[in-house]
Amino acid sequence: MMNWSDSLSRRLAERRGTSLWRSRQVHQGTDGRLLSAPEGQYLNFSSNDYLGLSRHPEIIAAWQQGAGQYGVGSGGSGHVTGYTTAHYLLEQQLAEWLEYPRALLFISGYAANQGVIAALMEKDDRIIADRLSHASLMEAAMHSPAQFRRFLHNDSGSLRQHLAKACAGKTLVVTEGVFSMDGDCAPLEAIAQQAKITKSGLMVDDAHGIGIMGDEGRGSCWAQNVKPEILVVTFGKAFGLSGAAVLCNEQTAEYLIQYARHLIYSTTMPAAQAVALSEAVRQVRAGNALRNALQNNIRYFRHEAQHLPFELMASETAIQPLIIGDNARCIALSHSLKQKRVWVKAILPPTVPSDSARLRITLTASHTKQDIDALLEALDGSDC
Ligand SMILES: Cc1ncc(COP(=O)(O)O)c(C=O)c1O
Repeated sequence: MMNWSDSLSRRLAERRGTSLWRSRQVHQGTDGRLLSAPEGQYLNFSSNDYLGLSRHPEIIAAWQQGAGQYGVGSGGSGHVTGYTTAHYLLEQQLAEWLEYPRALLFISGYAANQGVIAALMEKDDRIIADRLSHASLMEAAMHSPAQFRRFLHNDSGSLRQHLAKACAGKTLVVTEGVFSMDGDCAPLEAIAQQAKITKSGLMVDDAHGIGIMGDEGRGSCWAQNVKPEILVVTFGKAFGLSGAAVLCNEQTAEYLIQYARHLIYSTTMPAAQAVALSEAVRQVRAGNALRNALQNNIRYFRHEAQHLPFELMASETAIQPLIIGDNARCIALSHSLKQKRVWVKAILPPTVPSDSARLRITLTASHTKQDIDALLEALDGSDC
């Protein structure tokens, strides 16, 4: 029998020295634009703080006020003592804004996706997900006793073929609104139509669309006039904080309160965070100027990046990946940018499909034209 440490050593040795080795870097703080490290400041083009709200003074003040009122921790699961007026009001505010009967808060988008799929999907059921869906969705589907199938990326014809096959139980169709690694948008109308025809449920993870797309930033579904049975929104990106909410009808909400283990057995987010999130929702709703600034930056980057020796993807969103392909070259490019004080993380398989390593550039409302020029210049001069 292999001992504990030998087993871990073997797995680490398999990975060490390969381009798949992951590491974290300590820094002193970041916003949607700059990242401070001991050696100096970087232009940050890897942040999901799309509207620059992580440093918004009114959101910070709301968190401080909430901490003064409620303390810094919630003290338990929402099913025990963790559910305060602040959580309740935030859920009401989200449900009203997004026009759903109910909203349920989760500690993160990862927990929301895992919790919803684990609770809803049973043995004879079926999950059909876009093959490029986020790891939190794919893993939940893989661990589910339900049958799991993947349809071709953004291809409603491929979804239709899967749906045409018989299934004894219920079917859940899963997709993202804006794809996190490609930046492209799902054809939600066509997908929702397929789901409706076959009486399937639709779950949309709009982590990267909420706050950005649609009127008042109501997200990808609103922008495409689609109302999925389950809408997951996360607060770690355009809202500048963290956490998530599931929007759904009364019945689904009650079901999740009974069966979603990530709600029942996990300490809920601090009430102070819920107070801050309520302020963030107000800022997002009133954030047209920020959304316009972001759109201008996206247009400017795409226009100016055409001459670069890299393939631009068909993305009109804040996520503007440059496909490099080879892992080692992608890492070398990311290092070369870093030497020029530009922070762009290399994203490698298995996070993305093999041979599609990429520099995942994210633009925010806080970047200036000069920042984008500096990025373009650094990319142009990269000789890897
Ligand atoms: C599409 C998508 N869904 C879910 C998540 C997980 O959300 P959270 O960071 O709140 O756990 C992410 C995070 O990166 C994401 O990109």
